[in-house]
Amino acid sequence: MRRELRFLLNDEEVALDDAGAGDSLLDFLRLDRGLRGTKEGCAEGDCGACTVMVGRLRDGDVRYEVVNSCIRLLPSLDGCHVVTVEHLSGADGGLHPVQQAMVDCHGSQCGFCTPGIVMALYALWLERPRPTDAEVRKALQGNLCRCTGYAPILRAAAAAADYGLPEDDGLTRNREAVSARLAEMADGSRIELGGGAIVPADADDLADVLASGPAATMVAGATDVGVWVNKDLRDIAPAVFIGHLDGLCRIEVNDEAIEIGAAASYSDVEAALTAAVPGLADYWSRIGGWQIRNMGTIGGNIANGSPIADLPPVLIALGAELILRRGAERRAIPLEDYFIAYGQQDLNPGEFVEAVRVPKPPGDAHLGFYKVSKRRDEDISSVCAGFMVRVREGRIEDARLAFGGMAATPKRAGAGEAALLGRDWDEPAIRAAGWALDRDFTPISDWRASAEYRALVARNLLTRFYLDRSPAGSP
Ligand SMILES: Cc1cc2nc3c(=O)[nH]c(=O)nc-3n(C[C@H](O)[C@H](O)[C@H](O)COP(=O)(O)OP(=O)(O)OC[C@H]3O[C@@H](n4cnc5c(N)ncnc54)[C@H](O)[C@@H]3O)c2cc1C
Ligand code: FES
Ligand code: FES
Repeated sequence: MRRELRFLLNDEEVALDDAGAGDSLLDFLRLDRGLRGTKEGCAEGDCGACTVMVGRLRDGDVRYEVVNSCIRLLPSLDGCHVVTVEHLSGADGGLHPVQQAMVDCHGSQCGFCTPGIVMALYALWLERPRPTDAEVRKALQGNLCRCTGYAPILRAAAAAADYGLPEDDGLTRNREAVSARLAEMADGSRIELGGGAIVPADADDLADVLASGPAATMVAGATDVGVWVNKDLRDIAPAVFIGHLDGLCRIEVNDEAIEIGAAASYSDVEAALTAAVPGLADYWSRIGGWQIRNMGTIGGNIANGSPIADLPPVLIALGAELILRRGAERRAIPLEDYFIAYGQQDLNPGEFVEAVRVPKPPGDAHLGFYKVSKRRDEDISSVCAGFMVRVREGRIEDARLAFGGMAATPKRAGAGEAALLGRDWDEPAIRAAGWALDRDFTPISDWRASAEYRALVARNLLTRFYLDRSPAGSP
């Protein structure tokens, strides 16, 4: 067992034995290391001012992702390479190509958002030096600018490659050396810190840790937990960190299903899942922003039991199964049975979500996934829905309709489904199912949406689904 965290910060090796379970990377950078280029805006993952890059070894090679350092907790960084805006420079030691493009395109006024925007654009430039407009907009979903306006920033993103290319960048040139340094740090031991953080060695070790300390807070991507710490001032110790566990990040695709480890992030899963499930890609890009999709995990989105989490309705509609583990014991349950009541899930003490198995939808299934929120990007749903309907010879023979934001848990619409079964796939059937939703749900009013609005939206989403998927329909 080890008693200290080790990671790389820019060029420097860091060893910490006094990190608390809820200590944020942002506070460490600004207060401990004086790296104040990284800013604090919202402290809840929403504005991107605190964006940094974190690299982690994947199959022997370091892979970098942008994250929000305000909600990234220090103990999750063992064996990682943290890259802040201070690390950027051009090949001649001057401004980095992305920074120079921002200057020349007038992409910064007060400058508060600028380091975060530069980091997001830097990560994009490394992956796609000549991005499309859509790729730039997607990369900036998690970054707010209040005074410049986005047009000059978009122009800077498009121009960056004219100032230099990733092959000349320090991070690209040092990739092998950094991978080797990170590999040296990975000694395969469990870490226990005085501040109440436990970083298990692997998934089996996690099972042991939870069996002996079932009250510990599990922390995966910390996109919920980090907000509890910053906004509710919650003490999360003892906390067990799981986001780094390769055994929980695996994604296996076979002819029948996609099995996704609970600690796989939205970004990890995106390619495999959207390839297997037609129509899911647009919905996926509406979840959080780039930073949140790099951090938030599939298991966290399910385990948090939120009635407005975006994945459960989709996965329930697809007939997903949850694999739960305690010690060496595993059980599989239909995902919809996991949600018992508000704040209550079918999870025993010491048990954790290990994986979710998503059957590949049949080729003839009509599929629809919808999210309605106040803002298009980086917002939580007012109502979200996943639909799968199968039609044989014009008749509906199977229907799975699942909603978020309509009840205390993500929930299937039993009456709505019954109203469809055996009927012709036509508008009257969809209308009947829409009215039947009143028997399935009694939504609440809150500051996100009124009960009447939610009921109307749910009905309208069914109509839209029909219009989107029916050959006769014209949206
Ligand atoms: C700015 C912002 C935007 C967001 N946008 C969206 C959005 O568009 N759609 C959406 O649905 N959500 C959104 N969220 C909420 C959040 O990002 C997601 O719910 C995310 O998937 C949570 O995953 P995580 O790994 O970060 O969970 P964590 O914060 O690490 O954990 C969440 C909860 O799940 C528990 N947990 C985690 N993993 C496991 C496991 N394997 N087994 C048992 N328990 C576990 C934790 O103990 C904790 O109780 C947003 C959050 C922020 C901050
Ligand atoms: S400070 Fe706003 S996302 Fe971190
Ligand atoms: S330059 Fe002022 S917030 Fe973006």
